[in-house]
Amino acid sequence: MRILGIETSCDETSAAVVKDGTQVESCIIASSSSAFTASGGVIPEQAAREQIPSIHPVIDQAMEDARVAPEDLDAIAVTRGPGLLGSLLVGSVTARTLAKLWNLPLIGIHHTLGHLSSPWLDCPEEPQFPILTLSASGGHTELWLRTAHTSGRLLGRTRDDAAGEAFDKGASLLGLPYPGGPSIAKAAETGDDSAYPFPLPLAEEDTLDFSFSGLKTSLKYTIRDQGLEKRMSERERSDLAASYQHALCRHLVHRVERALRQFPHIHEVHLAGGVAANTHLRTLLAETCRECALRVPQTIAYCTDNAAMIAAAGYFLTSENPQRSVQPFHTSASLPLATALD
Ligand code: KG4
Ligand code: ZN
Repeated sequence: MRILGIETSCDETSAAVVKDGTQVESCIIASSSSAFTASGGVIPEQAAREQIPSIHPVIDQAMEDARVAPEDLDAIAVTRGPGLLGSLLVGSVTARTLAKLWNLPLIGIHHTLGHLSSPWLDCPEEPQFPILTLSASGGHTELWLRTAHTSGRLLGRTRDDAAGEAFDKGASLLGLPYPGGPSIAKAAETGDDSAYPFPLPLAEEDTLDFSFSGLKTSLKYTIRDQGLEKRMSERERSDLAASYQHALCRHLVHRVERALRQFPHIHEVHLAGGVAANTHLRTLLAETCRECALRVPQTIAYCTDNAAMIAAAGYFLTSENPQRSVQPFHTSASLPLATALD
């Protein structure tokens, strides 16, 4: 089954052709993130305007790279939410139109199900359920226990900021460019991660939830208390970046450790979402996952927003729940998390 995936939930415009949920035949990602370096974050209206002229060229390129024509496709899968409404509409209106024109079924995908599906893309072996997935990006941070692609339960979620958002806001406090994850990771390379102590959030609570806003506030007060608001040396900036990154990653890993103790039958731990690109997080998680496999998406492009994961999710939804996959859907900026799985 060959699916054309379309993803436009934030500042990326992406189209991909994926066969049988795993074989990526093409994946094009156009990003307007450089337009938001100065603002320190995405301006929704501007992101959607940038996507309008690029959506058709991106789809054409994905079809050309995969060497397929509309008659070679079996379905179109598109992100139905959550995300920025203007951006989502650019993708979903295009997908609806093409599905009508090409007489193809249209599958609406919850963005989170896309991230949960990303470890299967180009993966040389078949991951084994039950799987614990830590999915962390700019818009969400969750821990899922899955017994199949589309079934399982949400074990914990962030109570305030998402992990990627904490990277982005921290970068802005440190005077580093957007997106904050890669720029903090880069600055941290030469820093000492024990230079500034940060607390471990929710350490004493019996929960698998996350909370990042306290760490962001700690960073803000550390900068203020050390008198670094106006002048910060490169050494101080890299030490702060390394210590802050370490604190964010330690909190994420701490939740995984706790979940593994509660559910010892877990086969694999998956890391997905934009924050999965973080090498420090991968290193810390690998130390935690000694008795079960740790799997991350095959390339960084499959961690951050991309259409291949949406096409993969379309395939898994069709194979596990064919009736639901073709149900009419609304495109929505806010979708309940519970609707990501069946
Ligand atoms: O999944 P994604 O592309 O979009 C959302 O669904 O939000 O994730 C983007 C987020 C941004 O907050 C970005 O700062 C973060 O992922 N990110 C990283 C890294 N690369 C991207 N965070 C930490 N380390 C990275 N290397
Ligand atoms: Zn995402």
